[in-house]
Amino acid sequence: MATDPSAVDPGPPGRTPPDFGAVFRLRGSLRRRLGLAVTRLRHPRISFGSRCDVRSGARLTVARGATVTFGKGCVLDHGFTLEAVGAVEVGDRTVFGHHCTVASDDRVVIGAGCLIGELVSIRDHDHAFDRTGTPILDQGRRTAPVVIGDDVWVGAKATVTAGVTIGSGAVVGAHAVVTHDLPAGCVAVGVPARVVRMRQPDDVADRS
Ligand SMILES: CC(C)(COP(=O)(O)OP(=O)(O)OC[C@H]1O[C@@H](n2cnc3c(N)ncnc32)[C@H](O)[C@@H]1OP(=O)(O)O)[C@@H](O)C(=O)NCCC(=O)NCCS
Repeated sequence: MATDPSAVDPGPPGRTPPDFGAVFRLRGSLRRRLGLAVTRLRHPRISFGSRCDVRSGARLTVARGATVTFGKGCVLDHGFTLEAVGAVEVGDRTVFGHHCTVASDDRVVIGAGCLIGELVSIRDHDHAFDRTGTPILDQGRRTAPVVIGDDVWVGAKATVTAGVTIGSGAVVGAHAVVTHDLPAGCVAVGVPARVVRMRQPDDVADRS
């Protein structure tokens, strides 16, 4: 008699199959907790909220006197780079894709629930270069704070330059260079980033 290949063998009656998913979840949770404990020990000048996931290869450089705070449940994916001379504040549940850079000479604020795509660069300073007779290397830096609101999605490989404020709920397209402020709820793309449309409130979007 032909058997149905899609039929799942229920196993012997009365026996529930082992829940391997639970084992993997437990292992992942233990790995994250242990990793966070080690990261906290290695970086006592950084405040991490509970359940932060700091993955391998993260490079966190914090100068004496700098203040760095990550809220609860943040993810810093592989190769995340932090260079803090000034302040860095990151809200709860913000996720950084792999090889992002956040660098602060003065102040970088990133809100809660943000998605920062891979290879994104967020810096609050530029090299000064006004004079031609002095090497750029020797002209110091110009600094202005960067503020990114809550629930902002920054696409892969985008760059956010010094002095920019991005309003809550904004979306920045992949590869954009954000050189001017962006309003809350906008979608902005390109170099330099320009607003192409505004996101709709749920009730309006549901009707379209
Ligand atoms: C911006 C984005 C979210 C699309 O948003 P959208 O509102 O649906 O935009 P549309 O696709 O309608 O495009 C609107 C216009 O912007 C252009 N555009 C869209 N994304 C762009 C980008 N990243 N760079 C330049 N232009 C872009 C479109 O070509 C279109 O131009 P047109 O009107 O001349 O044809 C998407 O294109 C994007 O960049 N996603 C990021 C993906 C990513 O990085 N993922 C990994 C990180 S989590």
